[in-house]
Amino acid sequence: MTARELWEARLAALATRARTALAAAQSVQELEELRVHLLGRKGELTLTLRELGQLAADERPAAGALANRVRAEVEQSLEERGQEIRARDLEQRLEAEAVDVTLPGRRPPRGHPHPLVLVRQEMEAIFASLGFAVAEGPEVESEWYNFEALNIPADHPAREMQDSFYVEGHPGADEPRGQLLLRTHTSPVQIRGMLAQQRALPVRIIAAGRVYRRDDDATHSPMFHQVEGLLVDRGVSFAHLKGILAEFARRLWGPRAAIRLRPSYFPFTEPSAEVDVWCVFCQGKGCRTCKGSGWIEILGAGMVHPSVLLAGGYDPEEVSGLAFGVGVERVAMLRYQIEDIRLLYEGDLRFLEQF
Ligand code: PHE
Repeated sequence: MTARELWEARLAALATRARTALAAAQSVQELEELRVHLLGRKGELTLTLRELGQLAADERPAAGALANRVRAEVEQSLEERGQEIRARDLEQRLEAEAVDVTLPGRRPPRGHPHPLVLVRQEMEAIFASLGFAVAEGPEVESEWYNFEALNIPADHPAREMQDSFYVEGHPGADEPRGQLLLRTHTSPVQIRGMLAQQRALPVRIIAAGRVYRRDDDATHSPMFHQVEGLLVDRGVSFAHLKGILAEFARRLWGPRAAIRLRPSYFPFTEPSAEVDVWCVFCQGKGCRTCKGSGWIEILGAGMVHPSVLLAGGYDPEEVSGLAFGVGVERVAMLRYQIEDIRLLYEGDLRFLEQF
């Protein structure tokens, strides 16, 4: 074998290895390493081509032409393989990063009303449909509105310190109405509602809100909610009271919901009643929640006491009134079949998310 034949054989072998390696290259980086390895300053092909100078002068042109073809072929393969790899990489990236524009968007988490708010709204809607307008009063109330005007005399047990939260300070000088306290019921809004209407008829309001009492056990919270109703007009009777409350129960619990009125006493109504609704937990059979009776008390009611009408500016000889105060927690528990009142205050999302 002549020196030229030997050189050409090495060049051919190198070209074959280069083709195989280039075809097998899988990444831009691998390709770059191959380029350096073949065509770099100390690259295999570069060194081989340099040996061309050692051949005889008359052999160089033919050998040189071959060398140039091999180099051109390697350069072209590098270029082509590079394009292939880059195209494949781009395709893979597009596929991986593909956005399905038909997918529904992710909704940010959103709060919703507390069950107590839901039943309050439901109750407001029921009474609104019966013609009642929503009224409001302050949670920090004076003794006059909370007690006196409601015919609760100074020596009434409800006024003792253990029942009410008193607040330091007094109402403004223009309103000399006793000490301040957190209202113990929503009934002071009856007085505020009547006074605001300045003897106009009818007075037909409901007032929802927080009330405060100094007790705290499994079934009592020091803060709870009431919805107060008041209707004052000529000729209002106990039958109206019963009819309104029965309709209220039917709207909340369905057409078969039964209510029961028991004689009771409130200083601001005469006669007075406590109103029970058929226990939804046991269908009247008697259970722990209704303490075996089959009934659950949800509200106090009665015909507005003449002294209360007078305090509101109305003449009890001319008009009469009915009033009721509903415990919102009780209604919520019956509405949603919640057995423990404390669930309503704990803020446990596992509970709240069910509404
Ligand atoms: N205010 C009474 C209570 O808190 C409820 C009530 C309201 C009773 C209106 C009669 C009339 O218990």
